[in-house]
Amino acid sequence: MENVTTQRAPDWSNLEAVFESLGRALVVLDEAFVIIRASHSLDRMAGSGTSVEMIGQPVESLFGPRLFGPEETLRESLRLGRREEGRRGVLRCGRDAARLVSVTTTPLAEGVVSACDPRARYLVVIRPAEDDDTILQSALVSHGLVARSPQMLRIVHLVESLHGSDANVLITGESGTGKEVLARALHAHSPRSGGPFVAVSCAALPADLLESELFGHVRGAFTGAVRDRVGRLDLAKGGTLFLDEAGDIPLPVQVKLLRVLQERLFERVGESTPRPLDARIVAATNRDLKEAIRQGRFREDLYYRLRVVPIHVPPLRERSEDVELIARYLLARIGGRAGRAVQLSPDTLAALERYDWPGNVRELENALEYAVALGRGQTVQLEDLPAEIRSPESRPAGTIRARLHSPDPDPAFADGNSPLTADPEEVPIRAALERHHWSRSKAAAELGMSRTKLWRRMRELRIGSR
Ligand SMILES: Nc1ncnc2c1ncn2[C@@H]1O[C@H](COP(=O)(O)OP(=O)(O)OP(=O)(O)O)[C@@H](O)[C@H]1O
Ligand SMILES: [Mg+2]
Repeated sequence: MENVTTQRAPDWSNLEAVFESLGRALVVLDEAFVIIRASHSLDRMAGSGTSVEMIGQPVESLFGPRLFGPEETLRESLRLGRREEGRRGVLRCGRDAARLVSVTTTPLAEGVVSACDPRARYLVVIRPAEDDDTILQSALVSHGLVARSPQMLRIVHLVESLHGSDANVLITGESGTGKEVLARALHAHSPRSGGPFVAVSCAALPADLLESELFGHVRGAFTGAVRDRVGRLDLAKGGTLFLDEAGDIPLPVQVKLLRVLQERLFERVGESTPRPLDARIVAATNRDLKEAIRQGRFREDLYYRLRVVPIHVPPLRERSEDVELIARYLLARIGGRAGRAVQLSPDTLAALERYDWPGNVRELENALEYAVALGRGQTVQLEDLPAEIRSPESRPAGTIRARLHSPDPDPAFADGNSPLTADPEEVPIRAALERHHWSRSKAAAELGMSRTKLWRRMRELRIGSR
């Protein structure tokens, strides 16, 4: 038996090599639609290791529940001995990424290829859907940072050229432009990528709490310090400390942080043993720090320590070349979670490119989530988009999140038969709450409504906390 398999194995390899040279991946299924073989080219499409990890898994683990599910005819056709060509599907890539692919399935002719493995029944040929290659390539360039515009490509190149560096970086840019994605990409491209990425939101905490959050404290250091606490600087040892919303660091903490950056030593609150600083600092803010310095709210010396390398992320409206690519990337991600392959219609894309995105990429992501949740087809149609993006004139001048206050009824609900909810506010509100871990004040800020209004809408929509 051993001999037989080793003798016959090259047949598969040859076949796979041919398909691989055509940019295709091959997957072989047994009678129960379980994967028994996958070509190495699958690793290039879905991430390294996939071709090995998928062996023994049901076909759904590769394509999600939809493509081979009851709504599609693939299984039936295969059982009946029919070939199906060019089906659109979503190939799962890791935990929450996905890409659009085109899939051809065919039963294996008795005694031909199946002689290589008696269990083999069906063959699945996968090729990337058109245009998707560039998306995946650029997505991989910087770990989730998708870019095509000259401004963003300059940033991607900068990230790459910093790969051997430990220099502190200050990222500035409007809310939702992708500062955190960029910080993670910097970490992933740094010599510390093997270490942890630890984020601290500096806006959320008053000075004394932020101080012990950053530096840690010892038991008894202050009332309420009932046990020792390891600070974020310690936790980030060997990795990157991401100081998010650094423009909001209270002045007393700024003084301490400055000293730590100068001396490369820090102490836990209530302790005098100095510990070495072994973390790279990446800070981000959507505030104008120059202005904050003029007003005496931010220390100039700390500013220069943090911005050894300054990176400004431009707002999305200044780089509309990125809209299509980012939208497709986000759609693959959102669709992948829902097990659906979703595309953009040409006029949807045109509307997305026309809109001025006051909430930047985060708003784009919200809009697409909304559209995918409400739309039923494989394509996002213009009418699936939130009203103010469909026709920006409906957005009252000067307001940011007009979608939620938009007076015009949404035709997506015209048949009163929405799959999720009859209230167009529910999806974006839930999404915002989820994103901010159910912090009502942050979600309200993102949605551009007061906390009380959000609270009232949550009660009306019966959205509870988790
Ligand atoms: N270039 C990009 N490619 C793909 N996704 C992006 C890109 N930029 C931003 N995103 C997505 O947009 C969302 C917002 O990005 P992020 O949280 O990094 O913004 P931010 O600048 O930190 O916002 P804030 O100032 O509000 O904290 C995230 O879900 C992120 O994945
Ligand atoms: Mg952020």
